[in-house]
Amino acid sequence: MATIVTISSSPSSTSRTDAVLSHVTRRLVARGHEITQVVLRDLPAEPLLRGDARDWQIAAAVQLLESADAVVVATPVYKAAYAGLLKVFLDLLPQYALRGKQVLPLATGGTLAHVLAVDYALRPVLTSLGATHVAQGWFVLADHVRLFEGGGVLFDPAASGPLHDVTDEFLRTLDGRAPAAARSLAQAVDPLEVKAIVVSPDDPAAAPLLTDLPVEYGTRYGGRSANVSLTEVPSCDFEKVNGGALVLLTDAGETVAGGAIRRLDSETAEIKRVWTSNRHRRRGLGRRVLVELERIAADRGYRRLCLTTGPRQPEAVGLYLSTGYTPHFDLEADPETIGLLPFTKDLVAVPFSGHESGSGPDAQAPRSHLSTIQVTAVAREPHRRVDGTRSAVAS
Ligand SMILES: Cc1cc2nc3c(=O)[nH]c(=O)nc-3n(C[C@H](O)[C@H](O)[C@H](O)COP(=O)(O)O)c2cc1C
Repeated sequence: MATIVTISSSPSSTSRTDAVLSHVTRRLVARGHEITQVVLRDLPAEPLLRGDARDWQIAAAVQLLESADAVVVATPVYKAAYAGLLKVFLDLLPQYALRGKQVLPLATGGTLAHVLAVDYALRPVLTSLGATHVAQGWFVLADHVRLFEGGGVLFDPAASGPLHDVTDEFLRTLDGRAPAAARSLAQAVDPLEVKAIVVSPDDPAAAPLLTDLPVEYGTRYGGRSANVSLTEVPSCDFEKVNGGALVLLTDAGETVAGGAIRRLDSETAEIKRVWTSNRHRRRGLGRRVLVELERIAADRGYRRLCLTTGPRQPEAVGLYLSTGYTPHFDLEADPETIGLLPFTKDLVAVPFSGHESGSGPDAQAPRSHLSTIQVTAVAREPHRRVDGTRSAVAS
């Protein structure tokens, strides 16, 4: 576990830079690191402007920095450079304040024309302060960050994917692991190579899904609702003995996507926890997860699947609509005004001749590879009614 200090440099209290920083922070916390935040706008202005490091709050911030293993510096781009607030803080630091530390620089800005501000303006000063390693940073376009009143933020995939990658790389450096092998598009996950396996929720292979989902929900919905949505269903519901199943897709040993079903009644199962690793989105893996879940559900005798997703998951809504799930809400309304977005799908089983190993503690047999599509589904005509209650639960 590393001790990490995050530095927030925006003068604004409704800050896109802070939204980026808190998303990255959630991921670092989920990986077991200890985070302390330094919010520069909360430091006393006069001593800061005077460069008075004897002020106790400023001294405490400098001390935190000195005792940290790593630092995440997040700044808005102002006038083609990093924020002045960060400049005055960096100016009062001792010359080698970052000696021995890993540093991750992050920025937000209004125009891609200033994307180089991270490497051209910020990186040299971090290096000059003695940082052992300044990681590959990322510039997030302000338009790719949608802030919601009351908390919660939705990133455009163009921002969340690379942000995920640079955070992963930073985590690798912190853990002393080798850098990830660069994947060219040609080497990207080949759907034919992806294996589907049924596992118990405590299987280590399920950890990426179970760790990443709370981060994702926490970011999108803010602190409050995310926890409710995640704890409402105990993961033992996904055990085979309880009528459930947890399916993972793996590629060369890496868990890249997954999802689960749980029993609602003898004929109905609910889809939960559908997830695709940020690094592997837009490759049809969510669709493949649904195929596997539908096959297992039909094989277990379920005749219907239902699910709810949340209003800040447009990609999930797109996935369910394109795979024959019937929406039970007004597709034309702003999802924020609806809340829960329910879907259902009727299943028609095709006799399955293969073998499925169990996922429960009663079935520790080797994992089966479930790659044959054995199910077709019948979708009803989409309904156009609003019947959701305001909540933020996601499947
Ligand atoms: C005074 C000021 C100057 C700015 N200058 C730039 C700039 O030179 N280049 C750029 O890409 N964005 C510029 N922006 C846009 C901000 O970088 C962008 O809105 C950023 O996301 C704000 O972050 P915040 O919400 O954390 O304060 C400027 C914004 C302000 C208020």
